[in-house]
Amino acid sequence: MSSSSVEIRTLTTPQELFDAAAEKVIQAANEAVVARGRFTIALAGGNTPRSLYNLLATNGRSSLPWDRMFFFFGDERHVPPDDPQSNYRMANEAMLSKIPVPAGNVFRVPAENPDAPAAAALYDQTVRQFFALAPGQFPSFDLILLGLGPDGHTASLFPGTAALQEKSRLVVANWVEKFKTNRITFTLPVLNAARCVAFLVSGTDKAPALKAVLEGDAPDEQYPARLVRPSNGKLIWMVDRAAASELSKIPA
Ligand code: 6PG
Repeated sequence: MSSSSVEIRTLTTPQELFDAAAEKVIQAANEAVVARGRFTIALAGGNTPRSLYNLLATNGRSSLPWDRMFFFFGDERHVPPDDPQSNYRMANEAMLSKIPVPAGNVFRVPAENPDAPAAAALYDQTVRQFFALAPGQFPSFDLILLGLGPDGHTASLFPGTAALQEKSRLVVANWVEKFKTNRITFTLPVLNAARCVAFLVSGTDKAPALKAVLEGDAPDEQYPARLVRPSNGKLIWMVDRAAASELSKIPA
C-alpha cells in the first residue's frame, strides 16, 4: 500500500488510541455539521470500538452535535438486535442508549430477518433513501469506522468471500464459510466512497495482519482491508504500539 495516500497514526497505549479516535470523531462531526448541516457515520462492530463508543458517550458527550448525527452500521451479524453477537447491541449498550440522539437518527441493520439477503436489500434501500441516491450512485459517509480481523478482514468482507466482488449494491449478505453463517455488510464501493475511513487496530493479536495489510505483497483479496482505498476520501489507520509491533518501521 503506497504510504503517500495513507495516514498511519501510532498511539502508545490502547487508551491513547481511543482518546485519539474520539478526538477524530468529534472533529469530523463538528466539521461536517458546519459544512453540511449533518454528520453521517458508519460504526464498526466487534470489540475494539466499544471503548471508543464509551468515551464518546461520556467524555465526548458535551462536544458532539448529537441531534445532527446519523448513525449507520458498516456490518452486522445475522442475529437479532438483543443477541450478544449483535454489533447494534454493543454500540447501543456502549453509547447509543446513553446519548441524546433521536431514535430516528439511528439506522440499524434489520438482521433479525431470517432471510439475510432480504435484510441486506432492506438496509441497502434505507441507505439509498437517506442519501437520496440516484441509480449507480454511492453514499459519501462523512466517517466510516472499521476494525481489522486477524485474517485481514474488515467489516464483514472476509478473504475469499463473494462480497469482495460486489460492484453495484451498497449492502449484501455475505456467506462466511469459516463461521458457517451469513453476515450483512457494506460493500467496498460504499467504503471507498466515504469522505474519511478510519481503521482502529489494537493489540498484538492484530500485528501480523496489520503488517500483511500495510507492508505485505500477498494478493489484496487475501487481506480485504487492503482493498479499502477511498477514491476521494482520507484513509487513516489509528493503531496502538502493540498492533504496530511487527511493522518494519513504527510510524510516528
Ligand atoms: C465485526 C466487525 C469486524 C471487526 C473485526 C475486528 O462485525 O466483527 O465488523 O470487522 O471489526 O473482526 O474485531 P475486534 O475488534 O473484535 O478484534
